[in-house]
Amino acid sequence: MKILYVASEVTPFSKTGGLGDVAGSLPAALAELGHEVKIVTPRYSSIKTDQLTPTGHHLELRFPFGIERGPILARRLSPNLEVLFLENEHFYGRGGIYGDAWGEFGDNHRRFAYLSLGALQAAQRLGFHPDIIHVNDWQTGLVPVALQRGYQGTALARARSVFTIHNLAYQGQFNKHVMEDLGLPWELFNAEHGLEFYDTVNFLKGGIQFADALTTVSPTYAKEIQQPDGGASLDGLLRRRQGVLTGILNGIDVHEWSPETDTYLPARYGANDLSGKAVCRRELLRRFGLREDTHAPVFGIVSRLAWQKGIDLLLEVLPQALHSDIRFVAVGSGEGQYEEGLRALQHHFPQQVGTFIGFDQGLSHLVEAGADFFIMPSRYEPCGLNQMYSLRYGTVPIVRATGGLVDTVDGGLDGNGILFEAFHPTALLAALRRAQALYAEPERLLAFRRRGMGRDFSWAASARKYERLFASL
Ligand code: ADP
Ligand code: GLC
Repeated sequence: MKILYVASEVTPFSKTGGLGDVAGSLPAALAELGHEVKIVTPRYSSIKTDQLTPTGHHLELRFPFGIERGPILARRLSPNLEVLFLENEHFYGRGGIYGDAWGEFGDNHRRFAYLSLGALQAAQRLGFHPDIIHVNDWQTGLVPVALQRGYQGTALARARSVFTIHNLAYQGQFNKHVMEDLGLPWELFNAEHGLEFYDTVNFLKGGIQFADALTTVSPTYAKEIQQPDGGASLDGLLRRRQGVLTGILNGIDVHEWSPETDTYLPARYGANDLSGKAVCRRELLRRFGLREDTHAPVFGIVSRLAWQKGIDLLLEVLPQALHSDIRFVAVGSGEGQYEEGLRALQHHFPQQVGTFIGFDQGLSHLVEAGADFFIMPSRYEPCGLNQMYSLRYGTVPIVRATGGLVDTVDGGLDGNGILFEAFHPTALLAALRRAQALYAEPERLLAFRRRGMGRDFSWAASARKYERLFASL
């Protein structure tokens, strides 16, 4: 099959979270299965052009607000896989992917309309006739809308669209004047069959309404989003479309995330010999300015600091948990209140807590490898990748039983991680205590680590599921 894959972030070129990881690895897995895949994504200013080649093709998109033009650059990653970068100085030339220190960019509807319509035009310009157009999250929600409305009689008319929801909470909701700004027909501004959502325009809803198939990133999350509790006011629509909605668990990129080969680490290790992990642990403590010779258990997090992630719950519980001899290290950036909260915690417990506020790829690998436990107290979690990285690195995940965390972590007595149910301080504190008890039994802890390291989270199985879905369309 020929597959056009559109995403607003693609690792290693751009990343704010798990979407980037998935967009950097699922297309490669599909290409390995023999499909011809082209990824389309913006050329943000942070992406250097020295390894990109001009295709000689340009986009020209006419919007009521003006004509937007820009070249298409390319980078071939393998014989079957190419990334197409849309260049547009005005939209992507600034620093930041969705926003900057002042918040979300005010013209994101234009920036991602350019990506969505640009991806379709890029396929046409390059003479690429996809069977499947696979798009992701609200930033690409206009792709299925456009396909339904305007490509009859062109080579794109036969393409089937697949829309993957990585996070239902981010919907791309805009003032209704955006309809006119982008030249979207007013008949689409309707709640029943269009993009209207309580008198606003909702790009995610557009994708859900018009895609031929919908997927989300874990089976449990697929169920949760059809309930009022987890449906972010779109559960009714999702129930209506449940016949075309499936949950396919994300895989992980085992080339990037394997303790045996990880070049970010001071030492490498495998399930049979974990001595390298002890080296990583010492380096982790050193990097955070904590004493390296401690026998206390080290708990870590690497996270976008957002409401979803339950950082507030963690900050509520940690002062109490830190009364016992534990260490805590955090790598994260995001909402100011959580950044402040983490800094304050470090200030109060300087011997036990280390924080890095910012985005650092290498440090995220070091936490996965060097920590004993990895905490994810998420309010909700569509899939979550970090717990899979943790399992692979022999770091026992402590997770709340929600979404993809349930589908990946085994919280049983002979499991590989620790699960807690209620989003409540008592439940999280009890989970941390369970971790400490486990840590006090080295044999049992080692068995936990080894069971986690033995799990296969590579894309092989999940890519086949996408392949079957595509073929069925
Ligand atoms: P989400 O996509 O909701 O943020 P995931 O668990 O799916 O959650 O993926 C998060 C990804 O982003 C992981 O690869 C994680 O290591 C990475 N990440 C998050 N915050 C940071 C940070 N501050 N520095 C480096 N990597 C980070
Ligand atoms: C989203 C979700 C996360 C998921 C990721 C990749 O950012 O919050 O749970 O793992 O997308 O699908």
